[in-house]
Amino acid sequence: MSKSNDPQVSRRNFLTGAIVAVGAFIGIVAGVPATGMIISPAIKSMEKATAKWFALGSTKSFKIGEPQTERVKVVRQLGWRRHVSTETMFILTDDGQNFIAMSDVCTHLGCHVRWLPDKNVFWCPCHNGIYDKHGKNISGPPPRPLDRYKVKVDNGQLFVYVEG
Ligand code: FES
Repeated sequence: MSKSNDPQVSRRNFLTGAIVAVGAFIGIVAGVPATGMIISPAIKSMEKATAKWFALGSTKSFKIGEPQTERVKVVRQLGWRRHVSTETMFILTDDGQNFIAMSDVCTHLGCHVRWLPDKNVFWCPCHNGIYDKHGKNISGPPPRPLDRYKVKVDNGQLFVYVEG
């Protein structure tokens, strides 16, 4: 009689296999979160690494006294995922030398504001929030001014800093 036909051996093999399978399952269930905790800081540092300065062109190309819409394509590395989005902002200069860059995201609940040149204000269509041309909240529910991006002028070019 061969060993594989021995009912004692078969039962032992089955139990050994079952124990190994249960152990492997427990190892996977416990190991996946632990692995995530270990590599999470590395993922976060990869996300931060995508912040950068975007060139918006010559400072002379911006109209004085009127916000101008600019869009930048931002690539974010979220762990192993690559996410591409477009951020819209308004650039304003009152003198052609000093610039501000304002987010188009309303500080109330995150709708996108629009520049109304005939009224000289930004308007949020969601709850009728109003901001002046420098992004200061002047009417409606927005609790604070429009967020700003860092800007710099280098060699006659305007740059805006966008977080990754
Ligand atoms: S989201 Fe803009 S006013 Fe509410």
